[in-house]
Amino acid sequence: MHVVTAPAILYFGTPVVLISTRNPDGSANLAPMSSAWWLGQRCVLGLAKASQTTQNLLRTGECVLNLPSSDMAEHVDRIARSTGTDPVPEGKLRRGYRFEPDKFETAGLTQAPSLTVRPPRALECPVQLEATLEEQHPIAEQDPGWAGRGVALHVVIRKIHASADILMDDDINRVDPDKWRPLIMSFQHFYGLADGKVHRSELAKIPEAAYRP
Ligand SMILES: Cc1cc2nc3c(=O)[nH]c(=O)nc-3n(C[C@H](O)[C@H](O)[C@H](O)COP(=O)(O)O)c2cc1C
Repeated sequence: MHVVTAPAILYFGTPVVLISTRNPDGSANLAPMSSAWWLGQRCVLGLAKASQTTQNLLRTGECVLNLPSSDMAEHVDRIARSTGTDPVPEGKLRRGYRFEPDKFETAGLTQAPSLTVRPPRALECPVQLEATLEEQHPIAEQDPGWAGRGVALHVVIRKIHASADILMDDDINRVDPDKWRPLIMSFQHFYGLADGKVHRSELAKIPEAAYRP
């Protein structure tokens, strides 16, 4: 039986992304987010417009999308409810956020130089995607309660770094989904994927190479 319900949030479960960007003073910022989806070699990021990450990305046009594995939840949690914005904006103060000038240090993650962009990679993350901003789109412009608060940033992946541990044994250009264990955020809590496939896949009969343009 279904009932009509009205949850305040609709975070049904998506992988966590740690976005690194450069602050105006040149230091690195790192922020968890999970409203991200992928299309070809591109990613669309749903972000609060006022966040330091959004401001940095709009100003510099560069970021690294670091994907933590499910065993890295503790690192992500250490920088939840923190911002690189000083002073902390009123709305975030009300929700218990604090200013954190060095989120790599607080998260216990290591900065590693990127090859094509200035923001650093988070070394411990099994996947690190160097990216540049292609387009920005306002979200919910017609909604008086939400207008001006959110933005969809469309980035292009320029360089992909992946731990050899998550790649196919016989193909360095394919991620093995039996080895990759993304950290999932579902309704504010952290989850991982269960081992193994739950069903055969018709889609998986298409060779991955067929997706290259
Ligand atoms: C697991 C997790 C997922 C989050 N997902 C998003 C998201 O998709 N979009 C967003 O704008 N903020 C998201 N946040 C909140 C940001 O991390 C928060 O606004 C943070 O202050 C941004 O840091 P910054 O101001 O230094 O950029 C998420 C936080 C956590 C812990």
